[in-house]
Amino acid sequence: MTGNVKELRMPGGARAFIIDGVYSKPDLVRELGLRAQKWEEPGAGKFAGHETCRGYYNHALVRRLESIVGAPIRIDEKRLVFGRFRLSRQGDIAPTGVHIDHSGWAAIVYLTPDEYVRGGLGIYRSVDPDLDAVPDERTLKELGYTSLLDFDLRFVTTRSTDTRAWRLSDVIPGRYNRMVVFEGCKVFHGVSELYGDIAERGRLTQNFFFDLA
Ligand SMILES: [Fe+2]
Repeated sequence: MTGNVKELRMPGGARAFIIDGVYSKPDLVRELGLRAQKWEEPGAGKFAGHETCRGYYNHALVRRLESIVGAPIRIDEKRLVFGRFRLSRQGDIAPTGVHIDHSGWAAIVYLTPDEYVRGGLGIYRSVDPDLDAVPDERTLKELGYTSLLDFDLRFVTTRSTDTRAWRLSDVIPGRYNRMVVFEGCKVFHGVSELYGDIAERGRLTQNFFFDLA
């Protein structure tokens, strides 16, 4: 694992980091993803396209994530995807648009060559009420939500694919061999664009969801 860690500014004080050149041999990792044998059925998840049946990672990657977030992490593959490849193409149906994650943290490694890649990680704000990020506990209560889960179910999920409910505030470009690590439970986010007619030109990522130990 290589690359320098750069901290990003995120709405609502959410923490986020960007690491360019994260894998020392990204072409091998990309091949591993593209050549993976076992994939879930397309549409089995809430995201566009499909993902591999298992995660791919090693101790070096776990240690790298821990050094980035500055704390030990907890991996729970029964509940949370960790290291699976996701592949989508232009025109794939995306059941989920804007969302928040059910883990404290998420890491995405972008593995599509720069000549094909479009967009990246979209960061959104809610139009009504005007919220730039997930409100703190006190504000959630004032808005009439009993918990973060209640807010997710009744506010975020119901508006997820309603384009009028959200304004795109930023896009972190999905450059080749870039890892974005962020507190996905605190910011409204989603895939900003789908692209590619065939797998080799489509959106290939490796996704990790985890909590601090
Ligand atoms: Fe997410």
